[in-house]
Amino acid sequence: MALSLKKRDFLLVGIAIVILAFLWQAPPESTSRVPYDDDHRQFHELVKAEGKKAAEKFCEDCHNAEGVAFPEGHPPKARCLFCHKMGSS
Ligand code: HEC
Ligand code: HEC
Repeated sequence: MALSLKKRDFLLVGIAIVILAFLWQAPPESTSRVPYDDDHRQFHELVKAEGKKAAEKFCEDCHNAEGVAFPEGHPPKARCLFCHKMGSS
């Protein structure tokens, strides 16, 4: 049946548009950057020299429940620098 086939085609195109629209919503570049200050300067150097994974090991020395607490509802934090980019200030 030609007509129902067309309807299905429109449906598929519609779904594709919805998915593309979803993907095109660029992820918000709002996640706070790692400051370039006395606490973090060494990590900027370390990321450049040895990469993100090497630097991330030290984040939780300070960023933990007793130290610099995470904001409520902070997402799973296995890889800090995957979300927090190195800032310049
Ligand atoms: C020596 C302790 C220390 C270490 C290690 C440390 N931080 Fe921090 N961090 C702080 C303190 C104190 C603050 C809050 C004051 C500030 O903004 O500098 C902070 C703030 C931040 C902020 C929030 C900045 C903002 O805009 O409010 C981010 C993001 C962050 N740290 C990420 C990291 C990451 C990622 C690492 C590991 C690479 C790391 N920190 C290692 C002490 C530390
Ligand atoms: C899955 C993404 C993700 C990962 C991984 C992640 N964070 Fe976050 N973090 C966020 C988001 C989103 C926020 C809330 C928005 C903001 O303030 O940046 C946040 C907030 C923060 C804040 C507070 C920032 C402020 O301005 O008050 C700090 C400090 C922080 N994260 C540190 C870390 C550290 C240290 C790690 C690794 C142990 C880490 N984060 C891993 C996404 C992430």
